[in-house]
Amino acid sequence: MTVNVLFVCLGNICRSPTAHGVFQHRVDARGLGEQVRVDSAGTGGWHIGNPPDRRAAAAARQRGYDLSALRARQVAAEDFARFDYLLAMDADNLQHLDALQPADFDGELGLFLGYGSGSGVLEVPDPYFGGDGGFEHVLDLIEGASDGLLDHILQRHRL
Ligand code: 4NP
Repeated sequence: MTVNVLFVCLGNICRSPTAHGVFQHRVDARGLGEQVRVDSAGTGGWHIGNPPDRRAAAAARQRGYDLSALRARQVAAEDFARFDYLLAMDADNLQHLDALQPADFDGELGLFLGYGSGSGVLEVPDPYFGGDGGFEHVLDLIEGASDGLLDHILQRHRL
């Protein structure tokens, strides 16, 4: 079986591509690339077709994650038919997704950091209008939650 995971933020150029790259790296490191498929999208459409923000890409590269192949796209209602997990970076993104959610969706819709170790932080703050430190913080939060998410998926789907 294949488990499909979609990370969602606002622009799909900072937070969700970072989550995409970090989580993909974890999946590949455990040899699970065939069983767990990863993608990302934005609730907004301003950056469709664009590569990740250069600050996000540079911060990720420093930690060994390559975001260069990623391009922004906008989330659509059809994504609920294609993905088992739709994971929002913040409460606004989650509200947007909830409004698109069909009644028969039987996957998991929630905040990505909810799969973390319970630090109490549930939202990845938007780094777009801030300084470079925001991108390090985004990576810290995403790295922390990625292990918890992968463990959850492995257990729940017995991979
Ligand atoms: P992201 O960051 O949602 O993490 O990709 C943003 C990128 C662009 C904008 C806002 C947030 N924007 O307003 O263009």
